[in-house]
Amino acid sequence: MENYRLVPVVSMEELEMQLEALAVQINRDYEGKNPVVVGVLKGAFVFMADLVRRLSFPLEVDFVRLASYGTESETSGVVRITKDVEIPLKGRHVLIVEDIVDTGTTLAWYIERLREQEAASVKICALIDKHERRKVPVPLEYVGISIDKGFLVGYGLDFSEKFRHLPGIFEVEFMK
Ligand code: IMP
Ligand code: MG
Repeated sequence: MENYRLVPVVSMEELEMQLEALAVQINRDYEGKNPVVVGVLKGAFVFMADLVRRLSFPLEVDFVRLASYGTESETSGVVRITKDVEIPLKGRHVLIVEDIVDTGTTLAWYIERLREQEAASVKICALIDKHERRKVPVPLEYVGISIDKGFLVGYGLDFSEKFRHLPGIFEVEFMK
């Protein structure tokens, strides 16, 4: 049996400050552009809900679900869409909202798909930029929290589907 405990890393108070700061930038950049804000399921659902309620320009919301094959802790590079957006993205400004960028494989692949669909622009808003294991460079326009490493849960992020509902972000600390 795996033994672990959850260590608090980012409180809701801190997350709310980051949300405000992100919203200021996004409100400034997207005024008058009527973008499609695309949340990456499942992890982004909490962040997405909190973020869009702070945006003050007209926008549309949609979701995509991306599956990447691999082990539980690392993606293999083979990605597929298991639920696509329903709004046509050709000619639209697309703001992708993602929970956490790790190796970068998943989003790098998806950005290419959006380019093929001829979106007018594609930018990424990531709640967490976890940079130590980055393999594929991904331009992250908006980042809430920047960390080196560690497996994080809560505020949408899961460990084997658990802990998505936790308010705040916690690190899973594995014990022998
Ligand atoms: P990437 O392709 O390696 O960047 O994979 C990113 C995806 O892996 C994220 O969207 C998450 O679903 C998952 N992931 C990576 N790191 C974590 C973590 O610390 N906690 C929970 N999920 C993670
Ligand atoms: Mg994700």
